[in-house]
Amino acid sequence: MATDLHGPVTTMATATPDAVRVEGLTRSFDGRAVIDGLELTLRSGEFTALLGRSGCGKSTLLRVLAGLDREIEGTVLVPKRRAVAFQAPRLMPWKRVWRNVLLGLPGKPQRAVAESALEEVGLGHRSGAWPKTLSGGEAQRASLARALVREPDLLLLDEPFGALDALTRIKAQQLVAELWQRRGCAVLLVTHDVDEALLLADRVLVMRDGVIAHDTPVGLDRPRTVGAPGFAGLRSRLLTELGVEQPAAPSL
Ligand SMILES: Nc1ncnc2c1ncn2[C@@H]1O[C@H](COP(=O)(O)OP(=O)(O)OP(=O)(O)O)[C@@H](O)[C@H]1O
Ligand SMILES: [Mg+2]
Repeated sequence: MATDLHGPVTTMATATPDAVRVEGLTRSFDGRAVIDGLELTLRSGEFTALLGRSGCGKSTLLRVLAGLDREIEGTVLVPKRRAVAFQAPRLMPWKRVWRNVLLGLPGKPQRAVAESALEEVGLGHRSGAWPKTLSGGEAQRASLARALVREPDLLLLDEPFGALDALTRIKAQQLVAELWQRRGCAVLLVTHDVDEALLLADRVLVMRDGVIAHDTPVGLDRPRTVGAPGFAGLRSRLLTELGVEQPAAPSL
């Protein structure tokens, strides 16, 4: 087990059944605990979706798992290789797409490394382009390629499809599902979209009051559709957990 000496987020060997182990995690801002004694285990290779109301602490949790926030109490064990993609793609405008993909990688990686990841997300032809010439969906895919070159055992996605139009969003969801199946890494996807969570994830978590308040496996066959048997029931339960009032079933 490799220990990270810089803070309380500790990395663990890759070949473990769990990708993430969080015990008693607390993160406060100005004396207010946004995360408050949170417990969470994510299994290697599992696709987990994280739902919760705006401001409940989802991005804060992702930042902790990514190692971007170390002002925490509790124990956090994560794989050494992990990558994060945010809602806004955050590409450097003065670097061509392939250089953005390699940004921050150790050593002197070759352009071919970036190009193979760009091919994987269907963006090989835009490798030499400037970020400002990309569409929103292309920028999002470039951001995914940047995560993939890190060959993560844990891929953290913070509402990566939020800003995309409906059609591009469906394509991006399919792409993430394919990448996950091919790569076999653990994925933690933050989303506001219950259907998206149920289409993609093995397991759906709901965060509330600083903890994981609800944890449900999704046993639906893949590929999934919103009309599949069992889908509506799961959706309704999750919406209830999120505090969304639903109309009663019409009576005859
Ligand atoms: N750096 C910070 N300083 C002070 N407060 C913060 C900071 N970061 C987050 N917070 C607060 O912590 C709470 C949780 O924020 P967070 O961004 O994790 O929410 P979220 O669940 O991701 O919400 P959303 O769904 O809107 O993205 C919010 O009340 C936010 O104002
Ligand atoms: Mg957020």
